[in-house]
Amino acid sequence: MVEAFRIKGKSSLNGEVKISGAKNAALPILIATLIEKGTYILRNVPNLMDIRTLMNLLRELGLEIEKIDEDSYRIENTGIKSTEAPYELVKKMRASFLVMGPMLAHEKKARVSLPGGCAIGARPVDYHLKGFEALGAKIDISHGYVEAEVTELVGANIIFDFPSVGATENVVMAAVKAKGKTVIENAASEPEVEDLCNFLNAMGAKIKGIGTSRLDIEGVDKLFPCEYSIIPDRIEAGTFLIASIMTEGEIKIKGVDFCHLESFIMKLQEMGVKIKQDGDFIWTESKTGDLKSIKVQTMPHPGFPTDLQAQMMSLMSAVPGIGEVKETVFENRFMHIPELNRMGANIHVDGNVAIINGGQEYSGAEVMASDLRAGASLVLAALVAEGETIVNRIYHIDRGYENLEGKLSKLGAKIERIKVEV
Ligand code: EPZ
Repeated sequence: MVEAFRIKGKSSLNGEVKISGAKNAALPILIATLIEKGTYILRNVPNLMDIRTLMNLLRELGLEIEKIDEDSYRIENTGIKSTEAPYELVKKMRASFLVMGPMLAHEKKARVSLPGGCAIGARPVDYHLKGFEALGAKIDISHGYVEAEVTELVGANIIFDFPSVGATENVVMAAVKAKGKTVIENAASEPEVEDLCNFLNAMGAKIKGIGTSRLDIEGVDKLFPCEYSIIPDRIEAGTFLIASIMTEGEIKIKGVDFCHLESFIMKLQEMGVKIKQDGDFIWTESKTGDLKSIKVQTMPHPGFPTDLQAQMMSLMSAVPGIGEVKETVFENRFMHIPELNRMGANIHVDGNVAIINGGQEYSGAEVMASDLRAGASLVLAALVAEGETIVNRIYHIDRGYENLEGKLSKLGAKIERIKVEV
């Protein structure tokens, strides 16, 4: 038996929802506690499958991790007992590959399984490895593992071919204790990368240019443990904003940093969505039928986030007119389209461009999540569909959304978690 969501459509969602801590900030920050011994306190950590998977890996590597309240943890680093991240753990969650930077910084060696590809693309790690080599590491790849060794990490000038989030995070975590200065150009500047850099500076690192595409890192001999609170999850917030628009309700979204969603908000406003903000609340008062179709192109930050592409497409299918979505970050991130079309959307794909014949009414159907954000897009369509929808393979959704059905039910959605035959 596996789990699925059963959703009865045509509900209007109203009320307040509190956004959880950002998954993609919590993952690298938890990993960064490998860099230096000591006791850390991390707050606003989301309760997600990926976080639990990572904590198991970190315990395997020697960290003691204790929950101290509903979203806070104490991490005790008394020394890494293994510098190997095995395949069975890395294959569950590719972000585990980020342990390589801290291992090189702390132990000068690492043996980490190559993360496989995933549904949305091949997702190689060549930029990560080039960065480590620039810092003086010797890299060998054999039997599906990357083996890295270095006598002393030495600062270097690095220019990424593409502003990769993971490669920026991995190389920064190695460079903070390298000898001398490292400059990373064409670095990723996503808010989650910023949050990791701010955490490292709270540990005593010397990183300048945080939030820009050029990071200047002055290596230090020692870092210190610290207390830190993770930023809110802008992708979860964006998902609920879209739910508010599609269901023509009024959802007040609490605890999100408005400036982390600028390009997304601008695109909604281009459609004619009215966004309201009061302190750390943002909400919308819009009717889908009044909106107009637009063109969206995903880009690295500060461009439109690829992690909101599928959810935006669910909305665009309901908006009258011909819309267009171009996915430029991943090579295969349109797998939600056949499922949305089964629910009544009318989208066709030409290479990395999806043409959306909007103004469609969704009808409930049995569909399947193929990855985390694709699953979220199907839930959004189900909320407004005529009839009942079953969303299968919701383990994808559980990886990145904390208690999604609980938060949606509280807003008036008719959604329940059920068990289904495999
Ligand atoms: C992070 O993945 C996020 N994951 C992804 O979120 C997000 O979609 C992505 O950044 C882009 O914003 C985490 O932070 C845990 P990349 P990451 O390296 O670091 C290519 C979600 O939904 N590339 O910026 O793997 C790569 O193939 C997930 O929460 C190389 O070619 O993304 C891709 O096409 C999904 N070589 C592009 O760059 C490399 O060495 C962007 O990848 C590294 C990346």
